[in-house]
Parts: sequence; C-alpha cells; structure tokens
Amino acid sequence: MNKRILSGMRPTGSLHLGHLAGALENWINLQEEYECFFMVADWHALMGEYENPENIASFGLDNVVDWLAAGIDPKKSTIFIQSEVPEHLELQMIFSCFTPLGLLERCPTYKEQLREVKTRDLHTYGFLGYPVLQAADILLYKAGAVPVGEDQLPHLELTREIGRRFNLLYKTEVFSDPKAILTKHPRLLGLDNRKMSKSYNNAINLSDSEEVVVKKVSSMITDPKRIKLSDKGHPDVCNVFSYYEIFDPEKKKDVRDWCENAKIGCTECKKKLSAGILERLKPIYQRRKEFLQDKAVIRKILDDGREKAAAVAACTMREVKKAMGL
Ligand code: TRP
Ligand code: SF4
Repeated sequence: MNKRILSGMRPTGSLHLGHLAGALENWINLQEEYECFFMVADWHALMGEYENPENIASFGLDNVVDWLAAGIDPKKSTIFIQSEVPEHLELQMIFSCFTPLGLLERCPTYKEQLREVKTRDLHTYGFLGYPVLQAADILLYKAGAVPVGEDQLPHLELTREIGRRFNLLYKTEVFSDPKAILTKHPRLLGLDNRKMSKSYNNAINLSDSEEVVVKKVSSMITDPKRIKLSDKGHPDVCNVFSYYEIFDPEKKKDVRDWCENAKIGCTECKKKLSAGILERLKPIYQRRKEFLQDKAVIRKILDDGREKAAAVAACTMREVKKAMGL
C-alpha cells in the first residue's frame, strides 16, 4: 500500500467532540506515518445545502481552524479546500460517464438519506452522484488509504469499483484500490443518547466555552435506573461512562467502582467528566484563539495546500487523459 492518505469533512457546522474522537484524533496520529491530504469537502456540503449555501465557506474556514487547533500540522499535512482544485469536478465528470446508475441508487447511504432527511429535498441529480465525487477525491490523489467512519465504507467500495472500471475500460493501471482505515471510536452519542449532531442540538462543540461544556455535561442522560444516590448504577449502559472511555480513560476503573457501589452520585460523576474533557480542550482553546487572531495565516496555509494538492491533481489528470486518448 502506498503511504498517501486523503480524507475530508463536509463544512456544514461547527466541529464537536464526535469529530474530535471519531476523525481528528485519527488524522493527527496518521500524520506521523503517512503523507496526508486533508480536505474541506465544500462541494459535498453543497449537495445537501444547496438551498442555503451562504454558510459553507465560513464553516469551512472555522473547521480548518479547529483542525489546526486540534493538532493537524500544516508542515506535515496538506490542508486544502476541494472547490479550489477544479480537477475534482473534472474527474467526477469522467467517472460519471461509466458509473452505472444502479450502483448509485443501491448505495445504502443514499437510500438512508432519502428516507431520513425530511428538511431538504435530496432527490437530485447531484446528490445521487455524491459517491462519484468522493471517488474522484480519493483517486485524484491515488490515496492508498482513507481514514473514515464505518458509515463511509459503501463509498469506499464504490471508489474501488470505479477505479477498477476505469482501469478495465482504458486498459491501464492508473488507479489501485484504496483501503479504509477505520476510526477507533466509531460513534460518540450526543448528550441525549441520540446520534451526536448539530441538528439535534446535542453536541459539545470544540469552540464551546468552559462554562458551556460544564453545563452541557451536567445535562447528560445517565443510567435511568439510578434515581437515588444509594441506588447502584450500571456504567455500561450510561453514556457518561462511554465519554470517560474516550476522554479520561485512566479514570474508568474508579468510575466503575464509584458507580456500581454507589460511592458517588451522577452529578459528581459528571463534574469529574467535565474536568477531563476540559483538560483535553484547553490546549485546543488556546491554539484556536491564536489562529483566530491571525486569519492571514490560515489563508496562507490553504494557499500552500491548494498548490500542493493541485500539483498532484494535475499529474493524475494527465495520466487519466493519456490513458483515455483525450
Ligand atoms: N463523505 C464524507 C463524509 O461525509 C466526506 C468526504 C468527501 C470524504 N470526500 C471524501 C471522506 C474523501 C473521505 C475521502 O464524511
Ligand atoms: Fe453514569 Fe456516572 Fe451516574 Fe454511573 S455514576 S450512572 S457512570 S453518571
């Protein structure tokens, strides 16, 4: 496997603890070992937010600030904005010529979104092609691996299928199969035990102040059977405990003992959890503040990123067109 990685996030809102635990930590660690390309997937955001596209650009910049604050290092990784490298669309168009409709219509993420998203109309030509653009993202950089959550596996499968079809059609070996690198902590639930999402308003954002974090943690749902302080609790069914697992793992043993033997109450348990979370967030706050004071630095990082990304993209497109005789 080659040592290049590409991953992306859609800029549809502020980043929260779920992004930190699910994707960013993974990205940060991978920087040491791989040549990493991290992309703001603004075209992908547009496919869902086409009725209100005016926030995509500012969310994108805000997300990049969070990436940098969390530890994505522009000296090690290439950080760029998808729409600033036009080759993504060019390759998507070429792929769309031979991607069978059936493959896209059967894609489980597509079917699920059509079923579940009620606030926007996703019965569009563009949204059907979402995975084709994602395949173009990945194959344009010839990424050997793609760090993603489990929900993205069907898109990776489609990416491999599209790459293979290209090779077969044009009798070439331009593309090879990218592998998934799955995130360690697949899903962090929100404060109310539903999926963490800005649309449920149940997330702790990386940009939340200390007071807000404490308040949000204190509102978390705990073991419903534990009503009185003297009731013994069941940490394994308590979302607070799963947060400890991610944000303060050394305390897990103690928490289990405190909870199962009714040594401390849930209020106290949550207070200690906020302290653990804040410990993790404080350096991020600090760096976030520094970056926000100098927006020109962010623009420079993105300009450098675009240049590096564009060089790779142009090279792949030359090979693609040559293989096709265009
Ligand atoms: N579809 C991904 C998501 O919603 C975002 C994305 C776009 C992506 N292009 C990508 C992820 C390429 C990995 C590789 O999370
Ligand atoms: Fe959950 Fe902690 Fe309460 Fe146990 S003590 S139920 S782990 S909040």
